[in-house]
Amino acid sequence: MKNSISLIAIISLLIFISLPTPSLSQRCNKNDENVLFQIKKSLGNPYLLASWQTTLDCCQWYLVKCNKTTGRIIELTIFSGNISGQIPPEVGNLPYLQTLVFRKLTNLTGQIPSTITKLTHLTMLRLSWTNLSGPVPSFLSQLTNLNFLDLSFNNLTGSVPPELAKLTKLGALHLDRNKLTGTIPESFGTFTENVPDLYLSHNQLTGDIPKSLGYLNFTVIDFSRNQLTGDFSMFFGINKTIQIADFSRNSFQFDLSDVVFPASLTSLDLNHNKVFGSLPETLTGLSLQYLNVSYNRLCDLQTFENTSYFHNRCLCGSPLPACA
Ligand SMILES: *[C@@H]1O[C@H](CO)[C@@H](O)[C@H](O)[C@H]1NC(C)=O
Ligand SMILES: *[C@@H]1O[C@H](CO)[C@@H](O)[C@H](O)[C@H]1NC(C)=O
Ligand SMILES: *[C@@H]1O[C@H](CO)[C@@H](O)[C@H](O)[C@H]1NC(C)=O
Ligand SMILES: *[C@@H]1O[C@H](CO)[C@@H](O)[C@H](O)[C@H]1NC(C)=O
Ligand SMILES: *[C@@H]1O[C@H](CO)[C@@H](O)[C@H](O)[C@H]1NC(C)=O
Ligand SMILES: *[C@@H]1O[C@H](CO)[C@@H](O)[C@H](O)[C@H]1NC(C)=O
Ligand SMILES: *[C@@H]1O[C@H](CO)[C@@H](O)[C@H](O)[C@H]1NC(C)=O
Ligand SMILES: *[C@@H]1O[C@H](CO)[C@@H](O)[C@H](O)[C@H]1NC(C)=O
Ligand SMILES: *[C@@H]1O[C@H](CO)[C@@H](O)[C@H](O)[C@H]1NC(C)=O
Repeated sequence: MKNSISLIAIISLLIFISLPTPSLSQRCNKNDENVLFQIKKSLGNPYLLASWQTTLDCCQWYLVKCNKTTGRIIELTIFSGNISGQIPPEVGNLPYLQTLVFRKLTNLTGQIPSTITKLTHLTMLRLSWTNLSGPVPSFLSQLTNLNFLDLSFNNLTGSVPPELAKLTKLGALHLDRNKLTGTIPESFGTFTENVPDLYLSHNQLTGDIPKSLGYLNFTVIDFSRNQLTGDFSMFFGINKTIQIADFSRNSFQFDLSDVVFPASLTSLDLNHNKVFGSLPETLTGLSLQYLNVSYNRLCDLQTFENTSYFHNRCLCGSPLPACA
């Protein structure tokens, strides 16, 4: 009896496995298929999208992903292709999209289309390594489900919109490697729920970091290669949880002596600034994996590699050259 039951079970499993997959999952939604055809046409029918054909269910197409239950398109990831033109405004007509990526497309130009604001389910928006220009649009703050926003490696200009602080679920914000100007918004001290990792490096940002950013616990800060001034000590303190901090190649100018570095810190880079005073004792008690304070105006040396220290006003003696 037991044996025949398991035989039946095995046979039904075999029948189940040999069924063609379309009968198990919903076929692609017709509206979404039409929108994808419009997108393909708008991008000039590129070779990269050759698999986008009526003969194939659109859930099987290259670079898209469907929800198996509903047949709605939930991911569109266009990358590394010979694509010229602009982001088709029709992307806003894929209402169930959660992930939208245009990446490594040298000839993708123009601005970020406002139709993107219709994509209320979007959790990941990555438009990077393209030649997009124009501003970082403040309308992106309407995409309140975003947990990852990456606009790095583009030609974006203008300032960082303060409205982005309304993205309460944001885990990471990448605006690095653009041509952004102006100051870091005061509102970036008011992120609630999540405090995002902030990547703003390789821009032309100016001014002091707002004190308000000290109200939050950041984990990763990369503000390197801008023209920022003043003080960055608001990210530190005994109760903070920052791990990685890069302030290198700016114009920060303040006394580092009394800054308390928290135990969470693993990497600190402040090379090429005008930071003065001495290295605080809290630095030596940490298990730092990386430290670089070279090219500043510091005095008093602890026990790190000499390249972490060189080119400071009065650091000398082993492992650096002997004091004059
Ligand atoms: C697919 O859609 C169903 C029904 O709306 C939903 O319950 C499920 O979470 C969705 N799956 C994904 C991966 O989005
Ligand atoms: C990209 O496409 C254009 C026009 O179709 C063609 O002239 C060019 O050689 C292609 N470039 C690459 C890198 O494939
Ligand atoms: C970009 O466009 C130029 C000019 O049409 C073309 O020569 C080049 O191959 C394109 N490159 C890519 C990667 O699309
Ligand atoms: C942007 O376009 C220029 C030429 O117009 C090209 O040299 C550059 O590599 C492109 N940038 C990216 C990130 O694709
Ligand atoms: C983007 O910036 C690069 C470098 O400044 C420039 O050569 C290129 O022409 C710009 N591309 C566009 C599309 O504006
Ligand atoms: C940062 O996190 C630590 C440890 O979880 C906590 O004690 C401290 O109150 C937090 N500080 C802020 C400003 O939220
Ligand atoms: C750090 O946290 C402890 C315990 O919560 C608190 O007593 C102390 O005042 C805090 N120190 C600072 C500088 O916030
Ligand atoms: C610190 O930064 C300077 C300047 O960029 C660089 O030359 C040096 O190699 C760096 N030191 C380490 C330990 O990476
Ligand atoms: C750093 O130390 C190494 C040997 O430990 C030495 O060869 C090098 O010249 C030193 N560099 C500087 C800038 O003092």
